[in-house]
Amino acid sequence: MTHKIAVLPGDGIGPEIVAEAVKVLDALNLDLELQSSPVGGAAYAAHGHPLPEATLKLARESDAILFGAVGDWKYDSLERHLRPEQAILGLRKALGLFANFRPAICYKELTHASSLKPELVAGLDILIIRELTGDIYFGQPRGRRVATDGHFPGAEEAFDTMRYSKPEIERIAHVAFQAAQKRGKKVTSVDKANVLETFQFWKDVVTEVGKQYPDVQLDHMYVDNAAMQLVKEPKRFDVVVTGNMFGDILSDEASMLTGSIGMLPSASLNDKKQGLYEPSHGSAPDIAGKGVANPLATILSAAMMLRFSLGLEDAALKIEAAVQKVLADGLRTPDIYSEGTTKVSTREMGDAVVAALQA
Ligand code: IPM
Ligand code: MG
Repeated sequence: MTHKIAVLPGDGIGPEIVAEAVKVLDALNLDLELQSSPVGGAAYAAHGHPLPEATLKLARESDAILFGAVGDWKYDSLERHLRPEQAILGLRKALGLFANFRPAICYKELTHASSLKPELVAGLDILIIRELTGDIYFGQPRGRRVATDGHFPGAEEAFDTMRYSKPEIERIAHVAFQAAQKRGKKVTSVDKANVLETFQFWKDVVTEVGKQYPDVQLDHMYVDNAAMQLVKEPKRFDVVVTGNMFGDILSDEASMLTGSIGMLPSASLNDKKQGLYEPSHGSAPDIAGKGVANPLATILSAAMMLRFSLGLEDAALKIEAAVQKVLADGLRTPDIYSEGTTKVSTREMGDAVVAALQA
């Protein structure tokens, strides 16, 4: 069976890191049909829209999307609906990619690259599961208006709406509990139930769903405390499940514990296991085209794609083992370089992973 993959490189370092991931996929000789399409600022420049109809169509018709990154300062002054970020938000919404997996794993070779003390992060393996299609990101109404109440009636104001429906919370809770069953059997649900109605509801619904998973330990944590615990005692966490906005913030924080945002893959899945796979880092336009970007997060995202959307577990494990091997061999792109290791370019890193696969 041929698997159809949409390849959306995007902006900044997107094209160069995606090229390395494609090289790795090619080396596996799987039955994949890869097709590329522009997205983000690159698509705006070429077609006047960050998510052109043809790109969306390709994404919808594919089993999985391999995504680079979007965003560039040159597009910051565009109207919101034309900004590169709208491409990723639009894909999430159009394909219903509600379950976002963001692992934060500290590789033993990179323990010293973390800004935290090595003993706090050695062996760290957290999985953040972020709800991705609800919350204040998508809640209506939103906009600008003249206030009729509040502290300054008559003043200009802006507003967004935080909301979650019960089925939205239930389905992400199930995803989290089932993921925990395959790992450390612990779920921490992060909320702000002490202040927000939406997140008291979140907590109640997650608690209810948790009763169906007696083998998984559930605890609840306020988001401010979770932000603190992540840097105080990160290894206390196994699976963290939270809403869209808190998950955005906490996953960036967690990624830094590992010392290298350049290493972290992510997956965003819908209920049909169709998924979008992208590195957790952004488009880094400041280093684009210099051959210094780390392609490993994208290569590891391709591994997640094989595992979650295509059911090709063996191939996924091969890629992950090849990445371990190049790290053990001391190869490092500049973001993870330290004395005594070998500095390599984006392309050399991709070549080394391919060589490790073929060894
Ligand atoms: C992320 C990013 C996006 C988000 C932006 C680019 C819209 O920060 O994937 O975490 O806020 O979700
Ligand atoms: Mg983010």
